[in-house]
Amino acid sequence: MTTRRKPEELRSHRWFGASDMRGFGHHSRAAQMGYSRADYEGRPIIAIVNTWSDINACHAHFRQRAEEVKRGVLQAGGFPLEMPAIALAEVFQKPTTMLYRNLLAMETEELLRSYPVDGAVLMGGCDKTTPALLMGALSMNLPAIFMPAGPMLRGDWRGKYLGSGSDVWKYWAEKRAGNLTDAQWHAIEDGIARSPGHCMTMGTASTMTSAAEALGFTLPGAASIPAADSRHGRMAADTGRRIVDMVWEDLKPRDFVTAAAVDNAITTVLAIGGSTNAVVHMVALARRAGVALSIDRFDALARRTPLVANIRPAGKYLMEDFYYAGGLRALLGEIADLLDLDAMTVNGKTLRDNIAGAETFNHDVILPRDKALVAQDSLAVLRGNLAPDGAVIKPAAAEPHLWRHTGPAVVFADYNDLAARIDDPALPVTKDSVLVLQNAGPQGAPGMPEWGQLPIPKKLLAGGVRDMVRISDARMSGTSYGACVLHVAPESFVGGPLAFVRDGDLIELDVPGRKLELKVSDGELARRRAEWKRPAPRFERGFGALYQQHITQADQGCDFDFLEGTAPTPEPEIH
Ligand code: FES
Repeated sequence: MTTRRKPEELRSHRWFGASDMRGFGHHSRAAQMGYSRADYEGRPIIAIVNTWSDINACHAHFRQRAEEVKRGVLQAGGFPLEMPAIALAEVFQKPTTMLYRNLLAMETEELLRSYPVDGAVLMGGCDKTTPALLMGALSMNLPAIFMPAGPMLRGDWRGKYLGSGSDVWKYWAEKRAGNLTDAQWHAIEDGIARSPGHCMTMGTASTMTSAAEALGFTLPGAASIPAADSRHGRMAADTGRRIVDMVWEDLKPRDFVTAAAVDNAITTVLAIGGSTNAVVHMVALARRAGVALSIDRFDALARRTPLVANIRPAGKYLMEDFYYAGGLRALLGEIADLLDLDAMTVNGKTLRDNIAGAETFNHDVILPRDKALVAQDSLAVLRGNLAPDGAVIKPAAAEPHLWRHTGPAVVFADYNDLAARIDDPALPVTKDSVLVLQNAGPQGAPGMPEWGQLPIPKKLLAGGVRDMVRISDARMSGTSYGACVLHVAPESFVGGPLAFVRDGDLIELDVPGRKLELKVSDGELARRRAEWKRPAPRFERGFGALYQQHITQADQGCDFDFLEGTAPTPEPEIH
């Protein structure tokens, strides 16, 4: 039986329970905002951490959703306070939102720590906002529930469905090949994003909100509801109602984010054909919960997990179709034997309870196991002398003839070099070449941007080539596809072997053998290493300087070293 806390045991009681001079300040300033003591005394104070911003199109509905969350909190007897946090708008923020994921995580943690908060509703969805909010909440470990933004509606162009990202890459390649006019390109631009909500392909956003649900961080079924659907608003109010009880029950993130829940989330990511970005985020998240996750766990679980969500970029449909087909609950029901159903979730019930009775309404969207898009290995972890600490590839997104490939390297020193030369007709490149991008990792880029889907050189595009082996220490958008080896660790900027690759070196990719080898002798590699000079730091001051001093490599989750782990942090003194 759940024990309920007493009002004087609430964390906020430290601010509002004392009748001293500081207590006077807290009460008088609450009164200044128009609140009577009856509004908040003895009630759980719920922070609504809202990543709304004018620049975040994916969260355009969050002002209204915050009101719906507040309605739920008030109905359940709580006292809601909306607290804005940095929005991390994927498309607009440069060089990449990944540079700021840990900043939002820190902001979330410290907002909750420094204010009179008893519980939190975390409102996010656009790519890095989900892992950042969860990381911060895990570190603070107050009762917290995630309210996912929901996917936007399907894109539309001439009656064809358009998918975020995936169709941009597809039609951009056609435009570069001369098959689309400017007017057609602009019409695609106008139709691809036509409602609030995050990207509606299985990009990082849908991947991480689904992972959050599988971790137990959302109400059942929440992650799949399209942002524009009225059921999304009702889910927001339900979320507000639930957090108040979570506070009374003292149900905290580290109570349910266990090793078993992490495995459930990884299995879910693999079964939905999720973004490779999940590897970095899940490692960081798990470590904040005290779960020592290694990237090899993805490879181990991939060997037994079928990819059953027929969603772009791996499949055919979009997130709206997925919702109508039964959504994540239905999918989890299809792979229930691969999950630990005893894992607890925010509603105080097990995953088993939460998926009980879930039905699949369209078996072409959520595929039966025997018709899986791939039976196993939707993601693979590679190692070898080119990636001693690992690299990842999504074999399902690559042309199968490239899973085993050896070819000569064409090396680009950084993204500017790539942009300047990739379409040069004189570039010595063939369909068998291996494109290598250096200095695109956590420190080198900086921020490990989604540059890993290197463009196919124009002259090869014109010849009909649509995929080739590409290797970098960057990440890749979950909406991308191709034989792209990503997250090479250690990165080239800090002296990883990727820094020593030269034009013409042979590189062997062997996905079934999980190998990535530079066919250069150890002696020659040692000679090149001795000649190598570490590049100057990217930042002399500011957040960038903090970032470069503390960022960990991709296989470690790219967290800040001082934010990892579960060592206790003191509550603020109130004097
Ligand atoms: Fe926000 Fe894709 S741009 S999720």
